[in-house]
Amino acid sequence: MATAVRDLIDVSRDSLRAQFRRDVLTGLSQKRKAIPARWFYDHRGSELFEEITRLPEYYPTRTETGILMAHATRIGRMVGPRHHVVVEFGAGSATKTPLLLDAIWTAAYVPIDISGEFLRESCAGLAARYPELPIHPVEADFSQPATLPGEVEQHPRLGFFPGSTIGNMEPMAAVDLLRSMRRTLGAGSLLLIGFDRIKAESELVSAYDDAQGVTAAFNLNLAARINGELGGTLPLDALAHRAVWNDDRARIEMHIAATRAIEFEVCGRRFTMAQGETIHTENSHKYDPRSADTLLLAGGWEPLQGFGDADDRFMVILARAIGDEQTA
Ligand code: AVJ
Repeated sequence: MATAVRDLIDVSRDSLRAQFRRDVLTGLSQKRKAIPARWFYDHRGSELFEEITRLPEYYPTRTETGILMAHATRIGRMVGPRHHVVVEFGAGSATKTPLLLDAIWTAAYVPIDISGEFLRESCAGLAARYPELPIHPVEADFSQPATLPGEVEQHPRLGFFPGSTIGNMEPMAAVDLLRSMRRTLGAGSLLLIGFDRIKAESELVSAYDDAQGVTAAFNLNLAARINGELGGTLPLDALAHRAVWNDDRARIEMHIAATRAIEFEVCGRRFTMAQGETIHTENSHKYDPRSADTLLLAGGWEPLQGFGDADDRFMVILARAIGDEQTA
């Protein structure tokens, strides 16, 4: 790894494991079983997600990449000539990052991701491409407020939150996250954020239930992870992937369904599922431009400009942190 990459800031593996255990045990004990979507992303899960982004049915990644490419110059002009520290939330493989780094003046790059191993790999790739750029990877759950490395403090910040990951959160949690990002990034910061748009149900469902079964493998990897890391005995042969559109909440839901009545253990605790019962594993909320703007405003960010594609599939919004001064 090039010298520009600083040591990984590691929020102890133990505490992540403990949080995983707590989220799984709590989630399986509820009347409606549910596990937060962030636990998809162990190394295998991150790999499977990368595979999803290349599927013919999964339009968000390639649509957002096209938007960033088409509007890079305008985004660069709006961000202006000052060097910004780019803070990427849930960086993953950071494949879209070069599109932004090539469009603006960058003082340093701070990727935050829950999968440290994956983060190391993607930082090595970026360091090879940008040998002069200081890179400060942070292994953390980006939903927790983070302290930025001291060295980057003198520059204005640009948060980068692509991929419509904001859609994983229910609106109340999304607002909390946007506010926490505003606190992490500070006054005068910018945020470039991707939202997936509401569209025909058939198109949405096939994006989350692809013909090759990669999304199914991604979803069921969570069960395998519970077995591997938490001494689970979930019978994988009795579990199936489900993707459904919830129109009232404007979101795709993923579930793991029991195809027969099952009993299993996790961390020595016993659980049962009736045939057809599910574990809710993900929400992917979809927005129209008005609702995205309102969400941003509620979270302390004023939308400056939206960028879209010709088919209205996806949008990228540039927003600025709202100041604390009193208004009417
Ligand atoms: C990474 C959260 C944006 O919700 O579309 C892809 C995750 N889940 N296929 C999404 C995902 C199933 C993805 N995000």
